[in-house]
Amino acid sequence: MLVTGGAGYIGSHTVKALGAAGHHVIVFDNFSAGHAQAIRRAAVVVGDVCDGDAVYRALVEHRVTAVLHFAAWLSVADSVRDPAGYYANNVGGALSVLGAMARASVRVLVFSSTAAVYGRPVETPISEDHPTQPINPYGETKLAVERALPYFCRAYGLEATSLRYFNAAGADPDGTLGEDHRPEIHLIPRAIEAALGGPALDVFGEDYDTPDGTCLRDYVHVSDVADAHVLALGARNEPASVMVFNVGNARPHSVREVIAVVERVARRPVPWRGAPRRAGDPAVLYASNAKISRELGWTPRFADLESMVETAWRWRRDHPHGYQNGSAS
Ligand SMILES: NC(=O)c1ccc[n+]([C@@H]2O[C@H](COP(=O)([O-])OP(=O)(O)OC[C@H]3O[C@@H](n4cnc5c(N)ncnc54)[C@H](O)[C@@H]3O)[C@@H](O)[C@H]2O)c1
Repeated sequence: MLVTGGAGYIGSHTVKALGAAGHHVIVFDNFSAGHAQAIRRAAVVVGDVCDGDAVYRALVEHRVTAVLHFAAWLSVADSVRDPAGYYANNVGGALSVLGAMARASVRVLVFSSTAAVYGRPVETPISEDHPTQPINPYGETKLAVERALPYFCRAYGLEATSLRYFNAAGADPDGTLGEDHRPEIHLIPRAIEAALGGPALDVFGEDYDTPDGTCLRDYVHVSDVADAHVLALGARNEPASVMVFNVGNARPHSVREVIAVVERVARRPVPWRGAPRRAGDPAVLYASNAKISRELGWTPRFADLESMVETAWRWRRDHPHGYQNGSAS
């Protein structure tokens, strides 16, 4: 298996899950956001996915049979500021991986997509056949790749699975892997940081039409996201076809609820302050996971918010500098 972006948050957890399932894994990463210490028991190729020849060489040299393509940038705000960079890295990178796969006759792909492809929900829970109308460049880049996949499948016999993750959260339960984005853009690690004396947490909008006025989101444990990849690889697609699955818990939690759980787990207050709504933040976003449960047999092991916060808290407590300074155990 070639795992692009395998040094990143979800990629590294998936590398671990693939290894446990008996797969031989090669990580392909340029370390623009990933961490060498997050890679255990996998060969590493340092390279950029936009370099199609480098991807092709890795596929051939390591006799790869399937690619899991995580490598991408994922900040909505940055994608608004730098659409050129986001299209180049996320769309250009994916097309270069797909081209290299076609040249090397590698037929199986699992693609990291996102709930951001749906845009503003017209109904919740969101099922896979909900309209896809992204409201930011990040979501557009992921949808552009999804839209290219059927053509690559038909022309080159590719079998592709697109996994649309909702909000990945938590850390590996054995404490060796965790979330270390720089800057951190996700709610749970930011709330933990605030509890530990970091900057107060900004809560973007307290006047949404939700029970406590803050946005509702679907948090899914990163190890459960990793498991979805192992299941996707084990499933047999129709030849030359694309399958699409949501990866979410189908349970919405508000920002205020997340803060309360962090306070309970950390046993300290989370200082927070109200901030204006962010453009393009829908009030409620949560998945239907009926399809992935039914067709792949996916059952989340850590569906409760407490488990996500508790594993994230332990990771942060034991690795105050994340993967830096050799502090990762
Ligand atoms: N984290 C989430 O909640 C979430 C939600 C939905 C979708 N996703 C998608 O999942 C994937 C992984 O997300 P993550 O949170 O693990 O991100 P991450 O930033 O932790 O990991 C991304 C990895 O890709 C690498 N990378 C980026 N551009 C590259 C390039 N051009 N060449 C080689 N390597 C490159 C980075 O160095 C990093 O190791 C992304 O595609 C993201 O869009 C994430």
